[in-house]
Amino acid sequence: MLVRLLYASRASTPTDSSVYDSILEQSRTRNPKLGITGILCFSESLFIQVLEGGRDEVCELYNSIVRDGRHQHVRILSFEEIRERRFGSWTMGQVNLAKVNPSLLLKYGERAELNPFEGSAQATMALLDELIATALVVSRGG
Ligand SMILES: Cc1cc2nc3c(=O)[nH]c(=O)nc-3n(C[C@H](O)[C@H](O)[C@H](O)COP(=O)(O)O)c2cc1C
Repeated sequence: MLVRLLYASRASTPTDSSVYDSILEQSRTRNPKLGITGILCFSESLFIQVLEGGRDEVCELYNSIVRDGRHQHVRILSFEEIRERRFGSWTMGQVNLAKVNPSLLLKYGERAELNPFEGSAQATMALLDELIATALVVSRGG
């Protein structure tokens, strides 16, 4: 049975590309073995990630991600059973939120800034859908 988990977290320290690179490297190595797909959105201070896959695999991976000291204030925004994957093309796609057009953020939020902790999970997921459609997701590891 497939599930999709969406969470957001705050970076423990202002993160730079070496942090993203190491997280994406770990994801590329581990996720295919677990049958997990998804995307990771990041800015200097924020992470938003979607994990899709089997329920056990997604829950186990999420448990290890929560313990990771590189972020804190990890909050599940939504968890649902799904019939099919939405992010099946990505072992772990990446989105640099700094590159997202502010008008796109305004479309789904009260202001042209992303606050997944206060906004609805539906709006955050709709934004991610649009990022996929506008090819702002960079593929890593197929
Ligand atoms: C925001 C964030 C997202 C992460 N996403 C993944 C992921 O999708 N897959 C993965 O294997 N590790 C991911 N990690 C790294 C894991 O937290 C963990 O460091 C890694 O899987 C190794 O875990 P282990 O030491 O328990 O083996 C992520 C870490 C952070 C901070």
